[in-house]
Amino acid sequence: MTDIILALDVSTGKDALSIAKKTAPFIDAIKIGYPLVLAAGLEIANQLSDEGLPLIADFKVADIPNTSRLIAEEVFSHGFSGIICHGFVGRDSVLACVETAHDHGGECYVVTEMSHPGAVDFFHGGIAERIAGLVCETNADGIIAPATRPERTSLLRTLIGTKKILSPGVGAQGGDPAAIASIVDGIIVGRAIYEAKDPGSAAEEYSRFRT
Ligand code: XMP
Repeated sequence: MTDIILALDVSTGKDALSIAKKTAPFIDAIKIGYPLVLAAGLEIANQLSDEGLPLIADFKVADIPNTSRLIAEEVFSHGFSGIICHGFVGRDSVLACVETAHDHGGECYVVTEMSHPGAVDFFHGGIAERIAGLVCETNADGIIAPATRPERTSLLRTLIGTKKILSPGVGAQGGDPAAIASIVDGIIVGRAIYEAKDPGSAAEEYSRFRT
């Protein structure tokens, strides 16, 4: 199954709620992070939950285990169903997010290799592959892997088996949904939907890649 996940990086709660309503029939989850939460507060999560869609917290948590756990507790007490953390911080920090997510019946996704061009400055030499190994060892639910490099995401798929892959980089960053949809469990789309003249129609277009 391939889901469409809306990255709702708008900067007002009003825009967020309006776009969520227009796109809800064509998407499977909403991902929010610093842009919206810093602008509108974490309470926006409770308001967005009215759409009845799973909410993923993209704070790319990268801290010591205790702080990561505190962040994750806050996230899950605001109705999120998933959290994204970084993998490079190591096993104990990833485990803190995974355990907290699972304690709340939620999911934890670990960033392996990012979608932007600069990601390759550091994410090479086998680091992403090692993080994929960590994902299996810590029982995380899946990874975030780039739609902009389908060949890398395919390789990471061989390392994580049936764990989920959510893939950002489609649309504004140039990733082609047709090239990635069959490899991943979720396509993350931001600007190509929320900056469109008609976000509902844009989301409907992407919903062709849902399976
Ligand atoms: P756009 O507008 O480029 O938004 O479609 C993409 C969304 O996904 C986030 N993003 C990432 N998150 N690992 C992540 O965990 C990545 O490699 C990555 N690339 C993009 C971005 O912050 C935005 O919300």
